[in-house]
Amino acid sequence: MAPTEAVKRLVVLVSGSGTNLQALLDAIAAEGPERFGARIVAVGADRHSATGLDRARAAGLPTFVCRVKDHPTREQWDAALAEATAAYQPDLVVSAGFMKIVGKEFLARFGGRFINTHPALLPSFPGAHGVRDALAYGAKVTGCTVHFVDDGVDTGPIIAQGVVDVVEEDTAEGEAALHERIKDVERRLLVDVVRQLARHGYRIQGRKVLLPA
Ligand code: GRF
Repeated sequence: MAPTEAVKRLVVLVSGSGTNLQALLDAIAAEGPERFGARIVAVGADRHSATGLDRARAAGLPTFVCRVKDHPTREQWDAALAEATAAYQPDLVVSAGFMKIVGKEFLARFGGRFINTHPALLPSFPGAHGVRDALAYGAKVTGCTVHFVDDGVDTGPIIAQGVVDVVEEDTAEGEAALHERIKDVERRLLVDVVRQLARHGYRIQGRKVLLPA
């Protein structure tokens, strides 16, 4: 994505509570879309129950829901998701706790401008249980990774990472407590990454994401 003066258009995809979405909404509201470099133009979800949709409505944003079970095949769901997203003409699509792997059609349209946030230090602990898996493995540090999405599971080029220590209390209290501490770092990281990409542009060279200084 090349740096331009124009405010970039973001579509954010969610499945759950949407606190990462809220962090983006809050930062854009506080800084103003011009200074931030982007604004959210729509929020999509794979389920009606995603609380992130309520956050979007509260911010006056259009929403859409695209459920796998409403489509005869996974490919048709993927094409429908791509179509619904494309309707808002995004410059960048952000998967913020969107718990679905997109398919070929979605990547054909949005590859290279589709980012995801994952609650572990990739390439360690990819998949749906990154927090639980790091804890079970006995890792002493974990964290979060914002990366471009490719056709693997959490395998795309890494944009930025944040480190979180695993402490004794995490081992006792488990996944939820550690995940909350990761999300604290993750929300700030995602906001910083989206601002940076929107304002200054980027290039992807193989596995490397090149960000202007
Ligand atoms: C985040 O930790 C994200 O990395 C993971 O799910 C969580 C979503 O949190 N995939 P929220 O819905 O943004 O609060």
